[in-house]
Parts: sequence; structure tokens; C-alpha cells
Amino acid sequence: MQDLQSLETEITANITAASDMDALEALRIAELGKKGRVSLLMRELGKMTVEEKKEFGPKLNQLKNSLNGAIVNRKEELETEELNKKLEEERVDITLSRANEENGSIHPITQVIDEVTEIFTEMGFSVAEGPEIEEDFYNFTALNIPESHPARQMHDTFYFPEDDEGNRKVLRTHTSPVQIRTMMAGEPPYRIIAPGRTYRNDSDATHTPMFHQVEALVIDKDIHMGHLKWCIEEFARKFFEIDDVKIRFRPSYFPFTEPSAEVDIGCSFKDGEVLIGEGDDWLEIMGCGMVNERVLENVNLDPKEYQGFAFGLGLDRIAMLKWGIPDLRDFFAADLRWLKHYGFQALDIPSLSTRSSSVKGSK
Ligand code: DAH
Repeated sequence: MQDLQSLETEITANITAASDMDALEALRIAELGKKGRVSLLMRELGKMTVEEKKEFGPKLNQLKNSLNGAIVNRKEELETEELNKKLEEERVDITLSRANEENGSIHPITQVIDEVTEIFTEMGFSVAEGPEIEEDFYNFTALNIPESHPARQMHDTFYFPEDDEGNRKVLRTHTSPVQIRTMMAGEPPYRIIAPGRTYRNDSDATHTPMFHQVEALVIDKDIHMGHLKWCIEEFARKFFEIDDVKIRFRPSYFPFTEPSAEVDIGCSFKDGEVLIGEGDDWLEIMGCGMVNERVLENVNLDPKEYQGFAFGLGLDRIAMLKWGIPDLRDFFAADLRWLKHYGFQALDIPSLSTRSSSVKGSK
């Protein structure tokens, strides 16, 4: 029988030197596996005399246990080494400066829509929507602007090609068609605003082919012009954040309101700048009036029972006024430098989506 002591020393040294788990496992199989050196020695026990067995049996067992113990220890060592290596490699270096990510900002148009919505929803209005590709009927006819009406020319309309039945859709020229859609979709009373994109074939420093309006419509019993005046004054005070803001109603004409008015806001023009709330100048900001009886009849409402008012306001224009933005075209030029200068940080206002009611179908 081999010198068990030197065998143990040799194998233990090999175990301690095993550089990774694979090497250790290979060693275990070679020494203690089925055909391993130690296993073969164990097998030889069978051929031994009782005396020899008594002597070598315990020694072999001791050898086996000692080697198994050495393997377990080495295994633990290797596992710890591996873990430490991993931790070292994956260490997060908190001293690194963060990636150069820039925060986005809110476009002034989005901001103005949020602010206007906030003011009107506090007054009890809800938000309605309509399509930007609109039918002639909603954009014109139902609003008391028949085919031959000169107001059609004033709108510089973008028309789509005629369909098979000879109908032409339009890019809506104002948000007023949402009035019709609202009244045809549900029962009165109505108290809605409809912010959105509108389109006209026009382009200069104060006009772009796409621009934004907000429409308001209130229909109920006993609504009169006093309500309209209060509503607009209250809005102007809140939006421009000026308590004694001056508002002037000037008689005007719109086919869908009677009487109609244009609303001017008191301001001063100083060195090419417009300042709201001071001076003796006036700037037009919206059109309004009492909803024309013909419009009510077009949506099957009895004008003797229901009356109301409407107004339409240019959102781009009031954004320019409030924040002193001189050229409307810059709003849509997608210039990040401009957006950084005039953009807003996200405001913590309640989600608009929970309030909006979409008016898309008809009665
Ligand atoms: N739709 C009109 C326009 O775009 C603005 C307007 C005027 C809307 C009077 C109204 C209104 O609701 O009553 O020029």
C-alpha cells in the first residue's frame, strides 16, 4: 500500500493550488471520483486480510474525509474570490458625472392651453374636442355661414378635393364647429371650452397657416350678455394676472352670434413692446356674442327656451401678449434655442384627460 501520508500531502497541495472551480472539480474526479486514486485504494481493501483492513481501513477513511474537507474549503475560498472579483468589476463609481441629458420644456402653446383650461374648468366648464379635418356642414353651414356667404372668403380655407358625392372637407378654420358637434351630441345645458388647432391660408409675423384657438359655449335657460361679460373679464384677470385689467366690447358681426362683439384688452405700445394692463391703447383678443337663433334652430334647440353665448379666442396671440413673444412664426420653427428661452418647466396641474369629454359623434 502506498504511503498514505505522502499521498495526502500531494493531493492537498493540488487542491490548494486549484485555480478555479473547473480545475477543482477535475481534481475531485481524478482523486475521489469512481475511478479516482483514492477510490481505487478503497477498493483494494476488499482483497486485504482482516489485520490489514484494521490498519488501513481507518487510515483510508481519514484520508478521504480530510481530502473532502480540503475540497470544500477550497471551494468556499474560490467562491469568495469570484464574488469579490465581480464586486470589484461592477463597482458603481458615484464620482462619475452624469450623462449629459437635457430636460425637456413645455412649449408656450401647451402652457397656454393648460392655463386656459385650468381657469375655465374652475368656472365649471368641461373640455370638448372635434376633428381638425372637418365637414363643411360643421365648419360653415350649421354656423349660419351658407355657401354663398362672404364670410367664407374671409376664412382663407384649405379645402380637400371633392369626394364622389361632391362634398369637400376642410381643415377647420376655427374651433366654432365644436359648438355644433357638442350641441348635436348631447342635451343642454352646455358649458364647454374647446381648445385646438385651426388652419387658414395666411402667413406673416402675426399669422401662420396653423394656429390655435379656444372656443367657449354656454347654453342654458336665461343666459344673457351679462354672463358673457363677466366670464370674459374674469378670464382676462386670471390669465393676465392683473386685477384691474381693462376690457372693451366693440360691436361687430359674426354669422353665428347676434348680437356680436369683439373684445379688446387695454394695453400700451411702448418701444415696439405691448404691455397689458397699462396705457390707453387697445388690442383685439377675441370675438364673441349671443348664439344666433338660427344656429340653435340648426341643432334643434328652441331659442325661446334656450339661449347662450359663445366666444373664440386666439391662443397664440394671448401667449405672445402674456410672455412678450414678438414673432408668431417662431412658435412653430422647432428651434431648440427658442424653446429653451420661452419654454416652461412642467407645472403640477391636475391631469386634463380626466376632465375632457370628446365630442365626435352626432345625435
Ligand atoms: N370663430 C371666430 C373666428 O375664428 C371667432 C368667434 C367669434 C368665435 C365669435 C365665437 C364667437 O364663438 O361667438 O374668427
